[in-house]
Amino acid sequence: MNDHSDGLLIIDHLHKSYCHDNTETEVLKNVTFRVGQGEIVGVVGPSGCGKSTLLHLVAGFDQDYRGDIAFCGQKITCPATERGMVFQSPQLFSWLKIKDNIAFGPKRQHMAKEDISAQTRIFLERVGMLDFLDYYPEQLSGGMQQRVALARALIMKPKLLLMDEPFSALDYQSRLEMQRLTLKLWEEYKPSILLVTHDIEEALLLADRIIVLSKGPGEIIRELSVNFDRPRDLSLIKSLSFHQLKSQILDQLSVLM
Ligand SMILES: Nc1ncnc2c1ncn2[C@@H]1O[C@H](COP(=O)(O)OP(=O)(O)OP(=O)(O)O)[C@@H](O)[C@H]1O
Ligand SMILES: [Mg+2]
Repeated sequence: MNDHSDGLLIIDHLHKSYCHDNTETEVLKNVTFRVGQGEIVGVVGPSGCGKSTLLHLVAGFDQDYRGDIAFCGQKITCPATERGMVFQSPQLFSWLKIKDNIAFGPKRQHMAKEDISAQTRIFLERVGMLDFLDYYPEQLSGGMQQRVALARALIMKPKLLLMDEPFSALDYQSRLEMQRLTLKLWEEYKPSILLVTHDIEEALLLADRIIVLSKGPGEIIRELSVNFDRPRDLSLIKSLSFHQLKSQILDQLSVLM
């Protein structure tokens, strides 16, 4: 059997250093964990501990590391559409209309024209942006742009979605809306998600497991399961068990300050 249910993504004794002015700085130290099929894993830790670096390595933007990173049983050697990325800023192409931003990936994959058009509409509808398909990014709010960025990643049907502080630039209300939307889309498409966030509530609301990294060089100091029932909705945030788990993680992080 090769369904990767125990590890679609396997990170094994990962070490990463950057060299600057002939000085080597260790950024990630002995990081080992797995992300199963359809699983959501949250990564939290102090600023500068290597969270974005970790996502960049998994995305395949950088192959300079020690240890192993395997996806679907293969070493990661380059970026690929099956590992989609959603960044903190939406990074849409400013010169393309929303529909063309969404269609960009499928066009590069040489999908049939009529399919691209149909899929574009489907995914814009899923994120509540169908009425804006002829707009340009600058005509949308930050939250709306982030919805488009989510649709742009999901239209490629990634097995793994890499999210780097995806909603941190948004106000609280918009962030909650995006978290609810992410839960809804995850229920529908079930991609695995590796979610880097500063927002403990976000990690608890979305993730099945949370990995806590130490101050740089980032080392895993705790891995905890988040066993709240699914499907989840925003009411979970108000529950006692949610608050108890949140304080546990906050205690862990306050030790690192
Ligand atoms: N391209 C690079 N060259 C040299 N050093 C780098 C490079 N990218 C990141 N670093 C260093 O690696 C360390 C980790 O950076 P990284 O961006 O991964 O942290 P982070 O945990 O994502 O922080 P934040 O929470 O603030 O986003 C930092 O000290 C940073 O200066
Ligand atoms: Mg970062």
